[in-house]
Amino acid sequence: MPSTYKKLINLVSRSKVSVIGALLVSILLPVLLVSIAFDSLGLIENPYFGFLLYVVMAPLLVLGILLLIFGILFSRSGEELGTYTVEYLKEQFTRPGRYTRIRRLLYFTVAITLVLVFVIGLASYSSFRYTSSSQFCGLFCHNVMQPQYTAYLHSPHSRVSCVECHLGKDADWAERSRFTGLKQLWAVATDSYPRPILPPITALRPGRKTCEQCHLPEKFHGSRLYSREHFLPDEKNTRVRTVILMKVGSGDIGGRRAHGIHWHVSETQQVFYRAADREREIITEVRQVEKGKKDVIYTRIPGIDSATVSSGAVGKLRKMDCVDCHNRPTHIFLSPDEALDRKMAANIISPYLPYIKRQALAVIQKDYPSREVARVEISRSLQNWYRKNYPELIGNNPNLFARTVKGVVEAYMDNVFPAMRVTWGTYRNNLGHSKGSGCFRCHGKLRQVDSGRVISKDCNLCHVILAENEKQPEIIKSLKGVIE
Ligand code: HEC
Ligand code: HEC
Ligand code: HEC
Ligand code: HEC
Ligand code: HEC
Repeated sequence: MPSTYKKLINLVSRSKVSVIGALLVSILLPVLLVSIAFDSLGLIENPYFGFLLYVVMAPLLVLGILLLIFGILFSRSGEELGTYTVEYLKEQFTRPGRYTRIRRLLYFTVAITLVLVFVIGLASYSSFRYTSSSQFCGLFCHNVMQPQYTAYLHSPHSRVSCVECHLGKDADWAERSRFTGLKQLWAVATDSYPRPILPPITALRPGRKTCEQCHLPEKFHGSRLYSREHFLPDEKNTRVRTVILMKVGSGDIGGRRAHGIHWHVSETQQVFYRAADREREIITEVRQVEKGKKDVIYTRIPGIDSATVSSGAVGKLRKMDCVDCHNRPTHIFLSPDEALDRKMAANIISPYLPYIKRQALAVIQKDYPSREVARVEISRSLQNWYRKNYPELIGNNPNLFARTVKGVVEAYMDNVFPAMRVTWGTYRNNLGHSKGSGCFRCHGKLRQVDSGRVISKDCNLCHVILAENEKQPEIIKSLKGVIE
């Protein structure tokens, strides 16, 4: 064995390329193995450690191994190596007691190959896994993804990784995104990315298949009851409630026809649409397609709103999918009202402080040059106002006041990112009609070509409103504790 080893060293040192390769391998291999062990035990939390490890060092190691092999096979002495091997083999075969050495050589080669395959495999798998992690996506391009990452962390999907939605299981998408991934890395490196990042994102848009890994609207049924708390901007921060029964419905199940809100994603009748703008706000045509039936075509009612549609600006026909309504399943940015209401309902911002809703609304909606400035200014102006108007109250409840101020700052921090030009209302939510036109992009705006029947905007089509901003809704009493 030692002589084989010596020969190997000889081989390597014959070419500069393989010497470089060997150096890389011998330095990186032990460092990497130890680091990967540390990382998999979760001893190091820093996201840049992962980046260094999997995106810089692991590929370098693979490069080292490739250089090593390349150098041995194709160095200037490559010919020599060829004749050397042939001579050597000839000699082995003609000698008495042959085969033993050749067998040893074979074992050696197989062993080396196995080790190489294992190391390359481990390095590339770890790199792949790491670049697929939410940590990499969300933190590496820290400033760029900060708004989306922050919103994601607060959403029902915070345990679903970025790639599960943005790459999905669709090979086609995976291919495309790897390509755009390079483009995006370039955009970050050259600082040429758009601020804010524009929706709808074209290349990495989650498709219907993506959501259907976990949700099957065919299997939904019935309705769902929502109860939401709001606080009015008066002295008492009066608490009111809205209670709605949403007709969630389903795509066809058990022979029952699709109905309710998820009627749009039934396979029996499909909905296609065409929009005149990039944001898909101005919808000019809707087509309801059912096998064996004539297509039902709806067109925009002329002059229905101020949007003007020039005839040339009309896009491709798109099949409607989950993301046309659920465009914010995880990057949920709230309105100032909602952001405060949620914190007040959770008593993080105390509704006990007079006028807190009104004062907080005013301070979080101001323009601040950066998040750091906002943090300071928001707490300072709240403190000034309460010190002036309710000095005793805050003097007696310092903890409650401190917690409230922190809550107001958080309401801002969760939703506004001046560096990325993301502010209140930058991203519209199509699920509903309060933040952007949402459902009303079609409902009430288009009519059937043949019959003139308008896509209904009836207030009971999608939900039944059981109470709207009421202090003591009757319905809550009737439900006897089902919602408190
Ligand atoms: C539950 C699925 C889901 C997950 C998980 C998810 N996204 Fe998204 N993402 C979406 C959808 C849907 C859109 C909007 C697509 C559209 O409007 O075309 C989007 C849009 C974006 C955008 C474009 C800007 C915007 O807000 O519209 C960025 C950037 C983004 N996501 C980054 C991330 C990052 C980083 C992560 C992980 C930390 C992540 N996403 C995780 C579904 C997801
Ligand atoms: C890997 C699984 C997974 C994928 C992929 C996924 N979701 Fe979800 N989704 C979940 C889970 C789990 C919940 C429940 C979370 C909870 O109740 O806290 C959820 C909740 C939801 C909810 C209800 C939220 C609420 O407030 O009650 C909606 C709507 C939703 N998902 C839509 C989508 C859409 C649209 C997509 C595709 C862009 C998608 N999901 C992709 C796992 C997934
Ligand atoms: C026409 C618009 C629209 C389309 C298309 C749509 N949804 Fe929904 N979906 C809604 C609305 C509205 C709700 C109920 C309101 C809410 O959750 O705030 C809802 C509720 C849900 C919920 C929560 C249901 C519950 O009872 O907890 C999930 C999960 C969901 N949708 C997934 C999907 C998936 C997956 C698709 C695509 C196959 C899809 N939706 C297509 C509008 C839509
Ligand atoms: C791209 C256009 C489009 C958008 C956007 C859209 N719808 Fe519809 N919707 C339609 C069409 C077309 C019909 C069928 C109208 C008819 O038969 O009169 C329909 C029908 C419905 C129905 C009745 C289904 C049944 O039981 O027959 C409900 C409920 C509904 N939509 C809810 C919603 C909700 C909620 C949203 C927003 C989250 C929404 N729609 C967004 C096009 C749209
Ligand atoms: C095409 C379907 C559709 C129609 C028609 C419709 N809505 Fe809605 N509405 C929704 C959806 C979806 C939501 C829930 C959005 C969400 O989850 O935040 C909603 C939410 C609401 C809310 C609650 C907002 C809150 O405080 O959270 C009110 C109030 C409301 N609708 C009033 C109306 C009135 C009044 C009409 C009649 C002019 C109407 N809606 C017609 C789909 C519809």
